[in-house]
Amino acid sequence: MSTPIVIDCDPGHDDAIAILLALASPEVELRGVTTVAGNQTLEKTTVNALKVLELAGRADIPVAAGADAPLTRTLRVAANVHGESGLDGPSLPEPTTQVVDAHAADFLAELIEPGVVLVPTGPLTNVALMLERHPDVRDRLESIVWMGGAIAEGNVTPAAEFNAFVDPEAAAAVFASGIPVTMIGLDITHKALFTRAHADRLRDTGAAGRVVAELSDFFQRFHESRYDFDGSPIHDALAVAHVIDPTLVTTLNCNIEIETASQYCDGRTVVDRWLVLEGAPRNAYAGIDVDAQRFLELLVERIGSLA
Ligand code: BDR
Ligand code: CA
Repeated sequence: MSTPIVIDCDPGHDDAIAILLALASPEVELRGVTTVAGNQTLEKTTVNALKVLELAGRADIPVAAGADAPLTRTLRVAANVHGESGLDGPSLPEPTTQVVDAHAADFLAELIEPGVVLVPTGPLTNVALMLERHPDVRDRLESIVWMGGAIAEGNVTPAAEFNAFVDPEAAAAVFASGIPVTMIGLDITHKALFTRAHADRLRDTGAAGRVVAELSDFFQRFHESRYDFDGSPIHDALAVAHVIDPTLVTTLNCNIEIETASQYCDGRTVVDRWLVLEGAPRNAYAGIDVDAQRFLELLVERIGSLA
């Protein structure tokens, strides 16, 4: 039986690959895509989502655009990582479809029915707005698998991961909502690097394989110069992979709180990794380990199966 999912994203190289992984995987059924400002402006992330679905021949999947800025803060984009378009590198087909006529926060509430897993791979602005506007969703949304945060590192400040840092107030609202959130953070995504050898295996498999190889070529430049990594973490695809095969990531049920008022640590996901807080609610699941080899093989095999 396949799990229905909705991806709320800010494409973004790894968001694009996450969408393609979902489309290539029979274990999940992608019911809709919603977009948020993050890696680039909302206008750009939305057109990018439409282009990725067009590429995959799945323009039938509805896309709704959401928040063009964080709940209270000024948007900070990641053009240094994803380029001016948000998806620099390959050439992608122009969309033939348009977004649906609804704000993502409302469209998400419509799409979420019992059994649907919400997979946000950007700042949590749309998800927080959905919970505020449609509190009844709490009763039917059983789980959120979010790419964001980190137990022990940061990538936009020493203390914070990008998706958490861009909208910490939204992240705080989502983690306090009572809905179990699984956090696929940097500690594990940085352990699973997609290398040039992986990209080369995809380059001639079809249009999607070529695009993923070229996305990875572009993404790799940043990861080489910033981290001296021999490959790129395809962060967002790991969140989708966790729904496809829950044995890939080991999780810990624990308390996670989000810092929103600190000079140095705004956006920090404060994870009680060693369960030191007696009596604190175990409101979340933190990814603490990943079978990197199996994840990367899944990714290459599934993307390679797309036309
Ligand atoms: C996250 O930030 C974005 O740049 C990526 O798309 C990913 O969702 C990694 O920190
Ligand atoms: Ca993302």
